[in-house]
Amino acid sequence: MEKIIVKGGNKLKGEVNISSAKNSVLPIIAASILSGDLSVIENAPMLEDVFVICDVLESLGASIKINKENNNISIDTKDINSKEEPKADLVRKMRASFLIMGPMLSRFGRVKLSLPGGCNIGSRPIDLHLKGLSSLGAQIYLGHGYVEGKADRLIGNKIYLDFPSVGATENIMMAGVLAKGETVIENAAEEPEIKDLANYLNDMGAIVEGAGTGRIRIKGVSELKGVTHKPIYDRIEAGTYMIAAAMTRSKIKINGVDEEHIKPILAKLSECGINIDIKNGIATTYGDVDIKPVDIKTMPYPGFPTDMQAQMMALLSLSKGTSIITETVFENRFMHASEIKRMGANIKIDGRSAVIEGVKGLTGAEVRATDLRAGAALILCGLAAECNTQISDVYHIDRGYVDIEKKLKSLGACIERINV
Ligand code: EPU
Repeated sequence: MEKIIVKGGNKLKGEVNISSAKNSVLPIIAASILSGDLSVIENAPMLEDVFVICDVLESLGASIKINKENNNISIDTKDINSKEEPKADLVRKMRASFLIMGPMLSRFGRVKLSLPGGCNIGSRPIDLHLKGLSSLGAQIYLGHGYVEGKADRLIGNKIYLDFPSVGATENIMMAGVLAKGETVIENAAEEPEIKDLANYLNDMGAIVEGAGTGRIRIKGVSELKGVTHKPIYDRIEAGTYMIAAAMTRSKIKINGVDEEHIKPILAKLSECGINIDIKNGIATTYGDVDIKPVDIKTMPYPGFPTDMQAQMMALLSLSKGTSIITETVFENRFMHASEIKRMGANIKIDGRSAVIEGVKGLTGAEVRATDLRAGAALILCGLAAECNTQISDVYHIDRGYVDIEKKLKSLGACIERINV
């Protein structure tokens, strides 16, 4: 078993490069199914979740080359065939595998895959994905832990999402691009990753308008071609490094930041008293300040992202006062609170809210990463804590942070991975 050991107390300095957004790259790889051509994803993040979605496509017959030297992924989807099913364990390993449903149905009129199941942050149903695909004319069959979709050709329709689900918006968008006629998604998710996917689809020859707003209009086309695409930068990774600077009272430069995408995070960090100056995609974070308490409610974009909630809790545990975090997106995303408390934080959970009384300092402890962002939050606490922090279940962190120890080490942190 691997563990990450962090010896706290070092100031950070220098600069760090942000990788491409995992949550852009996963749907984009799934969307490459739509063309039956060769597509290339440039500067892809070399992460576990990305390898899993590649395995899913390979199990359907795609041929994929991952070049770890230049971070390019070449995906040839010519030989994908709808009679194959991705292995159940691959789909269960990562919920985003479900993103192949829309493209497979759209290109082949048939798909069968294992139901994704719940995860550590909530039960995470797929009803909105299925409702959307049914509206486009797909017959959906559920049974024995599998979902199967069939359609002669999908037919465009108006779909109103009860909640602006990121995954459901992506699946319906990918289904709509080859459907007959017009598809309109109302109350669509507005995340920057949705816009990135739409840009990719439009480069392939699709006609998608309004992505990044709550109303997306898609005019179905009969075929799409393979293209080369460079995804957007990972706003959550950038936000995590900004908090690393603040928790160690350091000044660092973060390369690869889109100011527009990171606005909701910047607004809260600024309320905390942290100064961040962004010029030409480089964010200079001035972290040498006393952290002010703030109240936060996680919301769909452009609200404060749930994927920054755990890292924010880590930061606020060192603030001068009381903060309240309300998690509205996921029903069970506070598992990190008890781990952060093991390091001396004062946090009380009451349903969907967490009350955080800032403490003077944290102390290293043995803790467990309960999910990806929880793991990142524990590393952040470790950087600021007295003595050593030992984090187990680090595979969660590897799902979403490229070379996190290497990047932090290059900033001067004392962090290493050990095999125990
Ligand atoms: N939901 C439903 N029914 C559905 C779909 C979603 O009730 O059919 C609920 C979920 O249970 C959840 C809420 O809607 O309570 C939001 O889920 P959403 O579908 O928006 O999330 P997702 O597509 O499964 C993506 C990211 C997550 C991120 C969320 C919210 C990817 C691969 N994953 O998940 O990323 O937290 O959007 O922004 O894009 C992470 O990176 O750590 C991560 C968990």
